[in-house]
Amino acid sequence: MNAEISISKNQTIAPIDKRIFSSFIEHMGRAVYTGIYEPGHTTADKYGFRTDVASLIRPLNLSHIRYPGGNFLSGYNWLDGIGPKDERLMRADLAWSALEPNEVGTDEFLQWCERLGIEPMLGVNLGTGTPQSAVDLLEYVNGDLPTKFANLRRQNGHEKPYNIKLWCLGNEMDGPWQICMKTAEEYGRIACETAKMMKWMDPSIELIACGSSFYDMPTFGSWERTVLKHCYRYIDYISLHQYYQNNDGDIPSFLSRSLEMEEMIHKIAVICREAKMEQKEAHDIALSFDEWNVWYHFQKSGQQPPKWTVARPIEEENYDLADALLVGCMLNTLLRNADTVKIACLAQLVNVIAPIMTEPNGRAWVQTIYYPFLYLSKYGRGTSLRLSCESAQYDCTIRKNVPYLDASAVLNLDGICTLFLVNRNQTEALNCTIYFNQDWDYVQEWISLSGNDSAQRNDADHEPIKPQARECPNTKDGILTIDLPPSSWNMIRLS
Ligand code: AHR
Repeated sequence: MNAEISISKNQTIAPIDKRIFSSFIEHMGRAVYTGIYEPGHTTADKYGFRTDVASLIRPLNLSHIRYPGGNFLSGYNWLDGIGPKDERLMRADLAWSALEPNEVGTDEFLQWCERLGIEPMLGVNLGTGTPQSAVDLLEYVNGDLPTKFANLRRQNGHEKPYNIKLWCLGNEMDGPWQICMKTAEEYGRIACETAKMMKWMDPSIELIACGSSFYDMPTFGSWERTVLKHCYRYIDYISLHQYYQNNDGDIPSFLSRSLEMEEMIHKIAVICREAKMEQKEAHDIALSFDEWNVWYHFQKSGQQPPKWTVARPIEEENYDLADALLVGCMLNTLLRNADTVKIACLAQLVNVIAPIMTEPNGRAWVQTIYYPFLYLSKYGRGTSLRLSCESAQYDCTIRKNVPYLDASAVLNLDGICTLFLVNRNQTEALNCTIYFNQDWDYVQEWISLSGNDSAQRNDADHEPIKPQARECPNTKDGILTIDLPPSSWNMIRLS
């Protein structure tokens, strides 16, 4: 099996927006309670947040964390989560059939982010919420006037505005599963009016309107056109969401899914450009891929934890090597589309469809998918390079001509070129020839994630799937030849 890549530092796509290395925490399952927050835990800080979890989050170097949902957002009254904790009341969370104690709310989350040096990306409820409740939350968070909600924030102990810049106008409002779902017309109107009011309150913010919940939604495309017709002028981004499944164990098809993700991005980018022309607007609408991941293991297992508990343990995926490879391909897709995708959130961060897992009152550990994200976030900064790739291909159940090689490359700020390469072939190594002229001299580092079996997983006791440093091959006359192991994710750094 062979592949060829040509690369030059002059062939660029776009600077990579640091916000594509973002994640998501929802009040869902054990993401918050016994995830990031567990006051009785041995590692809890004085605010009740687990420092063992924080120490696994920190290396991910996240730009933003989206909060508080997700489907939870569409039934959430933010007023329930502020003020003295002993006065906060338990509420029924209809999105996830769980109890929400409101011990963590806006202030706790924003201050936790401040301590971690990560920027929050907040959502306003456009399910049961109104334009007014959205503006009131914005005033509470960013307000600097001597007005009701800004004063309430001061009274609750935060004198200065938090100055949160990124705001989501609801969540997945096209989905029948959403609390108070809307038609595209209904959502477009309320998003427009909410956006207007929010920007009048704080012109410095940026707004993300809801796009389709996933590619196979019957209204994919027409939803975006209608929403943009109503609110183009007032928004800055439109969202994309997508999770992939491997229910029937068809790994070749599963690993081809990132090509579909790329199609999605291209289609929505075209719709945004067309809407700009049609409406004669001056600014571009960029893409916020604010939920993406692999998600199927828990649903496949058929587990149904009892309803109406706090920290109901739902959607706790245990990811395998194949999942990490697809996550690597999805990250490559984001880098290759750095010209249009400016924000992306790995959904989610802790316990719920997450790279980081915790035991209640116990250990915290990382899953296979943690590693591609870790390295991309560390070394995927700079300018995305346009590669010319030729690879042996395969046909699978859902697609023909899938390249075995999936690749992206970044010109880092220090001039190093970092390549991220996935070999989708499960049984054979991919002999890869990389032509890079004289732009770089030698291979500084080669890290790979691989294993004998694509179904291998990590858990709190065992970590069979973890990155291995490999011996750096020599280059000759601006050419590198390298054998990418079967079922592998790789990072190669050229100096
Ligand atoms: O991330 C989990 C859920 O997936 C979110 O609540 C929702 O937006 C999506 O359907």
